[in-house]
Amino acid sequence: MPSQNLSTIIVTGGAGYIGSHTIIELLTKTNYNVISIDNFSNSTAKSYQRIKEITNKSFESLDFDLCNENQLVTQLSKIKNIIGIIHFAAYKSVPESVTNPLLYYINNLNSLNNLLKFAQEQKIENFIFSSSCSVYGNAENLPVTEETPLKKAESSYGHTKQIGEDIINFVCKANPNFNAVLLRYFNPVGAHPSGKIGEFPLNRPNNLVPIITQTAVGKNSLTVFGNDFDTRDGSCIRDYIHVSDIADAHVKALNYLIERKNKNNVSLFNLGTGNGVSVLEAIKSFEKVSGKKLNYTIGPRREGDVVAIYANNNLAKKELNWNPEFSLDDMMLSAWKWQLNLEAE
Ligand code: WQD
Repeated sequence: MPSQNLSTIIVTGGAGYIGSHTIIELLTKTNYNVISIDNFSNSTAKSYQRIKEITNKSFESLDFDLCNENQLVTQLSKIKNIIGIIHFAAYKSVPESVTNPLLYYINNLNSLNNLLKFAQEQKIENFIFSSSCSVYGNAENLPVTEETPLKKAESSYGHTKQIGEDIINFVCKANPNFNAVLLRYFNPVGAHPSGKIGEFPLNRPNNLVPIITQTAVGKNSLTVFGNDFDTRDGSCIRDYIHVSDIADAHVKALNYLIERKNKNNVSLFNLGTGNGVSVLEAIKSFEKVSGKKLNYTIGPRREGDVVAIYANNNLAKKELNWNPEFSLDDMMLSAWKWQLNLEAE
């Protein structure tokens, strides 16, 4: 049972891919009480068992929908000493958001607004928002910095992240005592080095790396969505970053706020490695580390995809003292190890 007098961090979406890896870092690198909120819309409670097995630490969890304001207030008002909220809970599939935009606007924005309102009412002063490189759209100049002008989002997913950032900026402007960090993730991939937790898509995944590892075990088939883009090998460029590096950045961002090292009450950071990698290069890296030849076909372009995007990550490295440590091969090998462990379960 977590101690009643320690400071508490609320992690929404804590059973999800990035949320669960962040809880592992919080439990192993800090003394905060951690309480996860997740309605398992894109995860299962098995994540919590895996976290406890890896860390040998306990934490509490609540299962309710953040879009239900009454439930949110009733459940969270019982919790003492909340000093920060890390908000991951959101739908995040680019292609799904293209075909079902309202699902994304309702879920991603109602949950955020309810949470911000609660934080204001309860005077919770530290808030970390899970944003995304999709806010940049098809940026003209690469790598993108935090100052790069945002283009029209290519998907309602990216649009909900742009709107979410704007909402938080205005809330911070109106409330000098409310401090937020907006973290723009590039492409989180890979699995915890222990191989005991990783991306666990409930349905057919949309993201490249889980499709690669499922294809390698014969559970999926990989189509490369276009090889006629204006890039070095014709396939799209992304900044793949290990999920544990992303998780580490959240702990550093939380301490940055709690220790009041933030220069403004809303701070924005790119979380990428700074390396642009093409789809075909990612496939080659996987083949190298796994020793498996991957069968794939070249198909048409996917609606909503940007051609190329990768980060200038200097601000996060300087301000948060954050240094991503996993290479592309590390990312692919950890994803492969996790897929093999899933097959053995
Ligand atoms: C990557 C590349 C596809 C599947 C992600 C997350 C989103 C956000 C931004 C964090 C693209 C290609 C993919 C396949 C393929 N991250 N691809 N065949 O679209 O960059 O978005 O990063 O918030 O949440 O989804 O990631 O993995 O879907 O695609 O060729 O079967 O792989 O075209 O170029 P994306 P992705």
